[in-house]
Amino acid sequence: MYVKNLQVKNYRNYDNININLSKSLNIFLGENAQGKTNLAEAIYFLSSLKSHRTSKNKDIIAWNKDDTYIKAVVSRLYGEDVLEILISSKEKNYIKVNGVKATKASEVLGRLNVVMFSPEDLKLVKEGPVLRRKFLDFELSQIRPKYHYLINRYNKILNQRNNLLKSLQFSRDMISTLDVFTDQLIEAACDIMIMRRDFLIKISEISKLIHNKITSGTEELEIEYICDVKDFQSKEDIKTSLEKKLKDKRKSEIKKGYTLAGPHRDDIMIKINGIDVRSFGSQGQQRSAALSLKLSEIDIINSITGEYPVLILDDVLSELDENRQRYLIDNLNHVQTILTCTSGSDVDMFSSEDKNVFFVSNGNLSIGQ
Ligand SMILES: Nc1ncnc2c1ncn2[C@@H]1O[C@H](COP(=O)(O)OP(=O)(O)OP(=O)(O)O)[C@@H](O)[C@H]1O
Ligand SMILES: [Mg+2]
Repeated sequence: MYVKNLQVKNYRNYDNININLSKSLNIFLGENAQGKTNLAEAIYFLSSLKSHRTSKNKDIIAWNKDDTYIKAVVSRLYGEDVLEILISSKEKNYIKVNGVKATKASEVLGRLNVVMFSPEDLKLVKEGPVLRRKFLDFELSQIRPKYHYLINRYNKILNQRNNLLKSLQFSRDMISTLDVFTDQLIEAACDIMIMRRDFLIKISEISKLIHNKITSGTEELEIEYICDVKDFQSKEDIKTSLEKKLKDKRKSEIKKGYTLAGPHRDDIMIKINGIDVRSFGSQGQQRSAALSLKLSEIDIINSITGEYPVLILDDVLSELDENRQRYLIDNLNHVQTILTCTSGSDVDMFSSEDKNVFFVSNGNLSIGQ
């Protein structure tokens, strides 16, 4: 799939733009603070119904305006989809798919699949497990709308259960409700853990191949799912194990006031040549592992949906060494790529015939060669 046309109105530092994009490479070139990431964000917003930079949707409205509008024509194998979003500080927000207002997020998610790689993602391997769980949640929500529902449900139950645990420190009146929340939590946890495990098995296979290529065969990447239930085979295994764990930990849970087992504590172990990259890898290895992980999503999305997602590379080219840059340049011509950069020499690396270059200056775009 690819974004054929993009319109934004009153979007951050843009008044009104309407551009046609190439189905292969689109380069947004400009100095710092001109609006390159803003445009990448607009495309991301249409795919995930949120920004990758802020949790407050209203932040994307241009400062002196009441609302912002984003529209994209997405070309897909079976035809075109028109996606529109209005975010307003005065009226009701809406999302439309082919002119019809959507009532649920699941009607929109998956219409435009995006894999985004930005400097933040270089931290995926290096930082704590929160980022890696976010990675799992975002990627799985894109390809499995059911997961989006499940994770929201799990987080809601977890929150209620934690509040209850805190209140039990003062009074045991509600102790029977704890069993109800525990059963609901375990039910949602089972499906989430199975989906995460299966997703990581796929990621592991594909990212190993990519990593081998970008490191010219010198590094073997391994990805492993880390969770509270070791080597489970079935839903029943998870259920039995979590039930036991939560029963055993009940006293300390009440003392601490939060839940001590479940997928909210999951992590991903990333190894290169058998060594934990997070603790022992060099910065370059941590970045390459993050790149291999992210790029493997392209093939996973393709294997599940039958279409390639749109790839957004925001400001990352200059962060990578020549091998990694070469890999990106040589291997991604079948994927629509939105690339932002500050240097003209980055543009010269690409010889793609179907290449659009946009110069970005203070919220204005001009088309280059
Ligand atoms: N809601 C908003 N309304 C108007 N302008 C905004 C809004 N939010 C951000 N901006 C402005 O948009 C400008 C461009 O931001 P953007 O992050 O797109 O820059 P960039 O071209 O990606 O720069 P860099 O190369 O440093 O990453 C910022 O300087 C900021 O002042
Ligand atoms: Mg930027």
